[in-house]
Amino acid sequence: MKVLCFGSMNLDYVYSLDHIVAPGETISSSYQEIFVGGKGLNQAIAMAKAGLPVWHAGITGTDGEILLKTLRENGVNTSLIRQEDVRSGHTIIQVDGNGQNSIILFGGANQCITSEYITEVLGEFGPRDMILLQNEINRLDEIINSAASRGIKVVLNPSPFDGNIGKCDLSKVGLFLVNEVEGAQISGISAQKPEQILDWFAVHYPEAEVVLTLGSEGAWYSGVEKRCFQKAFFTKTVDTTAAGDTFSGYFLEGWMTERSVEESLSRAAKAASIAVSRKGAAPSIPLAVELEVLQ
Ligand code: RIB
Repeated sequence: MKVLCFGSMNLDYVYSLDHIVAPGETISSSYQEIFVGGKGLNQAIAMAKAGLPVWHAGITGTDGEILLKTLRENGVNTSLIRQEDVRSGHTIIQVDGNGQNSIILFGGANQCITSEYITEVLGEFGPRDMILLQNEINRLDEIINSAASRGIKVVLNPSPFDGNIGKCDLSKVGLFLVNEVEGAQISGISAQKPEQILDWFAVHYPEAEVVLTLGSEGAWYSGVEKRCFQKAFFTKTVDTTAAGDTFSGYFLEGWMTERSVEESLSRAAKAASIAVSRKGAAPSIPLAVELEVLQ
């Protein structure tokens, strides 16, 4: 069994502020740091730290050596990653005094995926394998179709949600990883009604499993055989960036191995609670051994 994360790699320019800047407002940042991130990279690292054998695919730019180095140092196979003569993807992230964030994304090299590259990458994987996708790279619809036609299990985190998701054949997705906002955007049902969102998925994608995260409120799982809820683990919030990515990576480790859904959710919630207590994206993702202190 091999796991492929085909996704973004970003340099995150993080600014600490009292509050998220309002339209027309100029405020000074008390602190600025650069972290390695990107939903693809974060989720690849979370899966690898959780214990899965992970390959990452995607494109970096001329400034992307640190992205490759970070993936390698965290146990992710980078042999499929290619470099283009453009800037890597980057973000501008504001983090307020409560640890909440606001993100501007510039795709850069993440938007340089070609059909030839997709064929080359997916040729390395087959029916026992899984592919994890997010929505920060181009040709997402093509990757989903090509992976499904090869019998690769497709897992989709449709984040950030935009019109590209509407172009994808979501009936080919075996597992959706969504937060309440994305769940509401896909289903058209209020984010305040998580069980109704799960009902909507059950009607429209009856074969698929769904994990619906609700931040500090916990997370739901819904599949053909069961539906269950996991509460969040309380922690002091420093920075919520990559908490969802951490949750996804740890849930998938359980999903791909012999763990029960309940245990997979619990481990994911523990890992995410550690991630929100730390600054940055990739650096905030805990090792599996760090989960043991949480009951
Ligand atoms: O999910 C967090 C990530 O979203 C950040 O690392 C940033 O790069 C954005 O892609």
